[in-house]
Amino acid sequence: MNVEFAKKDVGEVSSDMLVIPCFRGRVPKWVHEQLEEAGVGKDFSGEKGRLYLLPARGRKYKRMLLLGFGREKNVELEDFRLSGARIVRMARGIKLANVSVWVDFEGANRHSEHDVARAMVEGIMLASLKLAPYKQKKKGEEEGNETGIRRLTIISKMDVGAEVTEGVILAGAQNYARVVDVEPANFMTPRKLAETARKMAREYGLKFRVMGRKDLERMGMNGILGVSYGSAQEPVMIELKYNDGKKLPHVALVGKGITFDSGGISIKPSKGMDAMKFDKTGAVVMLSVVRAAAEMKLPVRITVLMPATENMPSGSATKPGDVLKMYNGKSVEVLNTDAEGRLILGDALAYAAEKKPDLMVDAATLTGAMIVVLGRHGIGMLGTDHGAMKLMYDCGLETGERVWELPLWKEYSEMVKGDYADLKNIGSENGEAGTITAAAFLKEFVGKTPWVHLDIASVEKSDGDSGYFCKGPTGKGVRLLATFLKEWSKNKKG
Ligand code: BES
Ligand code: ZN
Ligand code: ZN
Repeated sequence: MNVEFAKKDVGEVSSDMLVIPCFRGRVPKWVHEQLEEAGVGKDFSGEKGRLYLLPARGRKYKRMLLLGFGREKNVELEDFRLSGARIVRMARGIKLANVSVWVDFEGANRHSEHDVARAMVEGIMLASLKLAPYKQKKKGEEEGNETGIRRLTIISKMDVGAEVTEGVILAGAQNYARVVDVEPANFMTPRKLAETARKMAREYGLKFRVMGRKDLERMGMNGILGVSYGSAQEPVMIELKYNDGKKLPHVALVGKGITFDSGGISIKPSKGMDAMKFDKTGAVVMLSVVRAAAEMKLPVRITVLMPATENMPSGSATKPGDVLKMYNGKSVEVLNTDAEGRLILGDALAYAAEKKPDLMVDAATLTGAMIVVLGRHGIGMLGTDHGAMKLMYDCGLETGERVWELPLWKEYSEMVKGDYADLKNIGSENGEAGTITAAAFLKEFVGKTPWVHLDIASVEKSDGDSGYFCKGPTGKGVRLLATFLKEWSKNKKG
């Protein structure tokens, strides 16, 4: 999709369909006049959720799509993103390739035109993605993952060009995450994930390094190795660097890259196990965040670490009761081999902490308990940097990728103390405080480095068409973290 900004009058831009967001009782005068002209003046007054399509004869735009948003004071930024799905559906239905959106409230709206422009671009781009990479194309069907709109023009008298560009970068990175994440485990092995990262790094001018089994053995990364023992695939640790060596605020981003989580010897039930190919989402999100940061030229230094392996059962797999000596020297009793994310992240966080970043953030599909805690509507957040968490919360509201903090009281750390080793990899047999005890385990590996943990296990996939997502991975966390880094870099400098 080609997206551009036109600082023009609405009548100057040609398109197949001009989209006009309207608040209840506040349909723009010139739109109302056109409705009157057509003799249907009372048909539409901006009621929430209403769509109204009418032909626009003798104008540069062939049709007008009026979108009702309801009372202005109740409208949230997310509503503009969600409307993207309706626009895309309409454009697909009548095969319209060239769409323009009028973003001009003459300053009378609670949300600025800048934010609305960005949100519209995001919603339309996210809704345009189709995720069926292995379906045979029908005759005449386009290659690639996008369908429908080919050209999108945002029209405004306000200078919203920068936000349009930002929307393109953020949604582009999120869609990239979805495309990488949807790849099944037989294609997206740990090595293939490294190759994907290498390709992206080359394209965006990032430093790249991959540590293979030999390196991990030499370094004593036995958390990652231990999880990998049951798999025929080689485990890797992937490292990317943006603005390496520059004197800028430094953040380390760590992402869980389990390319398939069968549970290992503590094997999962077969129902829904296919979705465990999305257990690499944390890594894929971080890969996409650094891509967005590089594209936005954010004044930060970023180190990305993606420990990647399969978690499989076999004769050589780690067994319940086995003890692993982690990279930071702490020993862990593996009481449940399905609690593998914390083992690979423990090594990666301890390694990241050695680089003394100003902040570490990790993202992981870590615990099924997240779905119990927040349903599908938010990301769990725990950590030690309360300033960063406050900022993360605000960025969640802004991007619609909301986070909610859970406590890390010392009692939870007690729960992960081992009987025969320093730690055990589950907090309790019955899953009490599952999300929190997992984070309490990670805390043992961050040392004194300020740290924020995001448990994205509740939001990484959509089970069907919902809002601007189709069935499949959502890439949630990408816009949240890219926006967070933008704001965090401002605060760190000032
Ligand atoms: N990858 C899973 C968590 C998960 C579950 C993600 C459902 C997405 C949807 C993780 O490795 C896991 O299996 N966690 C266990 C931990 C338990 C054994 C302490 C869980 O949540 O059940
Ligand atoms: Zn697991
Ligand atoms: Zn897992």
